[in-house]
Amino acid sequence: MKTLGLCGSLRSGSLNAAVLRAAAELTVPPRELTVDAGLDRLPYFDAEVEETALPEVVAEFRAAVGAADGLLIVTPEYAHGTSGVLKNALEWLVGGGEVDGKPVALASASPTATGGDRARAWLAETLTVMGARLVTPDLRIPQATLKIVDGRLTDEPTRTALAALLDDLARAAAGAGEVDAGLAR
Ligand SMILES: Cc1cc2nc3c(=O)[nH]c(=O)nc-3n(C[C@H](O)[C@H](O)[C@H](O)COP(=O)(O)O)c2cc1C
Repeated sequence: MKTLGLCGSLRSGSLNAAVLRAAAELTVPPRELTVDAGLDRLPYFDAEVEETALPEVVAEFRAAVGAADGLLIVTPEYAHGTSGVLKNALEWLVGGGEVDGKPVALASASPTATGGDRARAWLAETLTVMGARLVTPDLRIPQATLKIVDGRLTDEPTRTALAALLDDLARAAAGAGEVDAGLAR
């Protein structure tokens, strides 16, 4: 089970990047999790460039996504949506088709009480139209500054919920199809 973790925040002190690091800690062989927190290396999506001269960095990104058995996407919420950098990365994947049929788990961390709910809903709509198999339930982490201390996810219930999300993603990748544990995390 090879999971690729994508981070929608570029901040060095990102709460969402801390969630991805925790996911990596919780991933033990034979599972693997590779973190991609540098989506700003991708140029702005341009359909003309896509058709005429696909940048090498985009081809590599598409290949990495294509090679993954599943994606774990963590997103900040900016103005009730996901981040521009993450949306841009997804736009490059529309034409490549790498997300079509791919199991995808979503999480968001926010200092607010809503935990990034609107950003995940926004992302879910985009990923659904791209053919992703979304793992449900996804993971909301409200009041994240109380749960992530010095860049580390220390809140045990949240770590347990993150581990469960990774388990659901692995089950989906193993062919169980869309997972619905039926419980709110
Ligand atoms: C421009 C801007 C817009 C934001 N909009 C929202 C928002 O709509 N909802 C929310 O919960 N938090 C919002 N926030 C707060 C972010 O959730 C917070 O900065 C969070 O730490 C960003 O994620 P990161 O720590 O992974 O970088 C906003 C922050 C900025 C800078």
